[in-house]
Parts: sequence; structure tokens; C-alpha cells
Amino acid sequence: MSGDPRLREIWERSVAALRTVVTDMKITEDELHLAGRYFNRLGQSGMFPSLLDVAFAMTSIDASRTDKGGTRPNLEGPYYMAKAPLRADGTLFDRSPGADAPILTLSGRVVDVDTGRGIAGAELDIWHADHHGIYDRQGFFLRGKVRTDADGRYVLRTVVPNDYSEHDHDPIGELFRALGQDNQRAAHIHVKIHVDGVEQLMTQLFIPLSQLLDSDYVVGAVSDDLVLTLKDAPPVAGQGPQYAAQFDFRVKQRVLQAAK
Ligand SMILES: [Fe+2]
Repeated sequence: MSGDPRLREIWERSVAALRTVVTDMKITEDELHLAGRYFNRLGQSGMFPSLLDVAFAMTSIDASRTDKGGTRPNLEGPYYMAKAPLRADGTLFDRSPGADAPILTLSGRVVDVDTGRGIAGAELDIWHADHHGIYDRQGFFLRGKVRTDADGRYVLRTVVPNDYSEHDHDPIGELFRALGQDNQRAAHIHVKIHVDGVEQLMTQLFIPLSQLLDSDYVVGAVSDDLVLTLKDAPPVAGQGPQYAAQFDFRVKQRVLQAAK
């Protein structure tokens, strides 16, 4: 029989696993058809990949890891924008974030997990929501790239992001309301690291001020090792509360495989 054997095994095991749910829960034909109509709506909305991410992305990421001892990777999510500007001074905002915006100075190193040495010239591509939980979807406010120095050190200044709600107006939100659960993300900072143009790590750093560290709706996204420790920093005139945090990214360096 032709066909893709991996796909066939995934299909058969998935159906078998779901069949036990149908049996155990005595799911009726009406409920099956209700689910089918829901998945039709979900597909028409374009949100099926997002629901798979919410339920399974972190399981997939954790199961696929080969970077023993490295910083735990995390999902990219839907709000990445390529071509963010290089922030030479490390500041991710080029207009005032508002006098009430809490400011974070985040610093640390990017180190090779095998050698423990800092990686010079690593590029951190950072993006996150603002202190109201809103992403800039048009421009590059609170988005940008910073590079490590000769010792692998980086420093960036940005706004402390807030929690945010997603999918309030699409079938994913509809599902979570029906479940009586929140569809909210705990405040986080996305970081994607490249060395010599090769992606080495994609992760998220979480903000300890968040109320949602225990209830982020992306299953398994939050882990203690990715939660920053914030310290109070000296006040700056005209700016909101100042915080400082330190985080070292440990990466297993990957090299581009030459095309065969
Ligand atoms: Fe996000």
C-alpha cells in the first residue's frame, strides 16, 4: 500500500485515542455533529492552527528538544513581524510609551550551552505587548533587534508587558467561553535568537507581576525557569516605575545543514 507511513500511524493512533473518549464519554451522534459543525466554523475562521497551538504546541516543542541544558524553547505565536529594526542603544521604543508605563531594563548573556562561553554578535529579535496588553501590529513599537557584544552580553530597555486576551471574537473564544475558561496569555516577552543568520532559539520570558502564570491558556507555556525575577531600579524623571531583570540564554548552537 502506498501512502505516507508516518501520516498513517499518526492518523490511526489519533483516531484510536479519540475513540476511547467517544466510548468512555458515551458521546452521542448529535454531539459528534455539533463538534463537526464547530470545527467547520473554526476552519472557516482560519483559526484551526491556533487551537492546535494552544492545546499541543508546547507538548510538541518539549518532545522535540535536543538542546540538553539549554533555555527552554517556547512557541512563536501569531504576532511576530519580520524586519524589526536593529536597536543600537537597546531601547525598543522610539516614542514615549506614556508616563505610566513601567520600564524594564533586561540584560544578560547569550551563551553556548556546550562550552559555557558567551556568543558574540548573537542577534536577539524581541517583540511583546505593551503595558495594556496590546501588540503594535502596524509598526515596530516594542519590537526590535539587539546584538550581543564580544562577551555575549546584551542590554535592552522596554516596557513591562501586560497579560492579554486572545480570540474573544472567533470560534476559539467561543470554545473557551463554553468551557468556562479564560482565553488569556500571561504577560511575556518573545525572544528569537539568531547567530550568523541561523535561528538558535525561540522562547518567551514571563513577567512575575502577571496574574495568569498559573492559568495561561496555552497549555504548558509557563515554566518557572522562564519567569523573570524583577528588581526595583532607580526612578527616571518622566517615566513610570523602573524594573531591572537579568536573564542568560543558553543555546545549543545549530549550524545550517548543507543541501544534499
Ligand atoms: Fe505573545
